[in-house]
Amino acid sequence: MRTVFILGGIVIIAGFATLGYFVHQSFWWALGILSPLLFMGFYDIIQNKHTIRKNYPLVGRLRYLLESIRPEISQYFIESDLSGRPFNRRDRSIVYQRAKAVRQTVPFGTQLDTTEPGYEWVTHSLFTTHIEGDLRVKVGSSQCKQPYDCSIMNISAMSYGSLSKNAVLALNGGAKLGNFAHNTGEGGISQYHKELGGDLIWQIGTGYFGCRNNDGTFSRELFQKNASIPNVKMIELKLSQGAKPGHGGILPGKKNTPEIAAIRNVTPGTDVLSPPRHSAFNDSKGLLEFIQDLRELCGGKPTGFKLCMGKKSEFEDICKQIKNTGVYPDFIVIDGTEGGTGAAPLEFSDRIGMPLYDALAFAYECMVKYDIKKEIKLIASGRVMTGFDVVKLLAMGADGVNSARAMMFALGCIQALACDSGKCPTGIATQQKPLMNGLDVDDKKVRVGNYHTNTIKAVKEILEACGLHNTDELDRSMIFRRVEENKVMTFDEIYPLKNVSADSVLN
Ligand SMILES: Cc1cc2nc3c(=O)[nH]c(=O)nc-3n(C[C@H](O)[C@H](O)[C@H](O)COP(=O)(O)O)c2cc1C
Ligand code: SF4
Repeated sequence: MRTVFILGGIVIIAGFATLGYFVHQSFWWALGILSPLLFMGFYDIIQNKHTIRKNYPLVGRLRYLLESIRPEISQYFIESDLSGRPFNRRDRSIVYQRAKAVRQTVPFGTQLDTTEPGYEWVTHSLFTTHIEGDLRVKVGSSQCKQPYDCSIMNISAMSYGSLSKNAVLALNGGAKLGNFAHNTGEGGISQYHKELGGDLIWQIGTGYFGCRNNDGTFSRELFQKNASIPNVKMIELKLSQGAKPGHGGILPGKKNTPEIAAIRNVTPGTDVLSPPRHSAFNDSKGLLEFIQDLRELCGGKPTGFKLCMGKKSEFEDICKQIKNTGVYPDFIVIDGTEGGTGAAPLEFSDRIGMPLYDALAFAYECMVKYDIKKEIKLIASGRVMTGFDVVKLLAMGADGVNSARAMMFALGCIQALACDSGKCPTGIATQQKPLMNGLDVDDKKVRVGNYHTNTIKAVKEILEACGLHNTDELDRSMIFRRVEENKVMTFDEIYPLKNVSADSVLN
């Protein structure tokens, strides 16, 4: 049908053209412009997929055009400084400014409505302090042989594959420049994670990429080999992530290139599954035995796990088992449901998993209750952008934070929201060479380093303004939130710590 239409169109236009040749030469110009439109209009009439185009030929196409540029129109012309999603313009701008190390002040006073419910602030002191040096935390329980002196802010897990080679290089180069750590994500350790020498946290997901047997099960030998790389400072077992907890993933055969296959220890060209759960253990006790095994195999490097909080009873059971078995993971990462991802089903992104503040409050409470917090560092991730975000999470009980999307903004992400299309315009979340070549590693690694340095500086300045000497002095009573127009609560009222003696609950 389509061929008949096209041939018919050619015959008609050729007829008109012959006629027009004898009339006037400008007719050719009109013909050149009109005939493609004519074709498109006819095609709209005969196609059956799009009702709007069929009913309103040619004009109906405008709708699709406008839809396709809606994010850009909204971002550049409609969105206010505080209304953009997931991150507003002001948050994005502060990351860009800190990454470029340009002016980081705001003029004329706050744009926030301080009378609105949700407005938050931290109490300052009349007697400010001065803090020297970096803000770092030692990760490593009494069972760890190689504790890691970790920055309080590090790059959250994002794999090579979901990110481009240049993005991974720039993140790792930034980590090296700023003396902080770069999490590999569950896709294994690529050469781009190693080339520039930044510290690594090697993440092991359910696919055991980089440490798997042919049947997809965990390989102790391969794990031991890769974990011994000197740049690998810590091992993170991923149980789940905030944006899609309980959802596995698939690496389609066409994306499984020989390079990716070699990194992940899989067969090139085949579909590779990341199942929703681990095959190496089935319960809390098994999880701890596995953590113990990993820590021994890697020569005693800090080994911990990451999860998005689901059933509270399951997390409580892990804490109980930690106390009962005496096996201490060195750290636990709590990822809020508001966390980012390259791609996730809508329901999982929006409706599954606990938001970060509720989850962190519960995790901290549980760890104190079972008297295990002193051995285990608690790391939080989910929408960390500014110094105030970091301070709030530390006040809630975290020892450090991880950030993924703020680091992407530092790389130049413009929130085009096309990460799952493979066509990221900034060369970050793509494998297309022409796009990724636009991301200059030497320039962007400096930006990543700058963003980290300037954010840590902002945290320090807040601590100093609060009259504190280190991050341990922060607590929930220092953070206030307006919950109603005439009602303000502190974080220790909103998230009360029900600290029960460990002896009374152990069985
Ligand atoms: C592009 C992208 C890829 C990610 N890949 C992983 C991953 O491999 N493993 C993981 O545990 N989390 C992954 N995450 C989640 C982040 O590590 C982090 O938990 C989450 O984004 C919360 O941080 P944010 O709000 O700072 O982005 C990814 C996030 C993004 C944006
Ligand atoms: S610029 Fe790239 S990384 Fe950023 S949101 Fe868009 S597609 Fe994703």
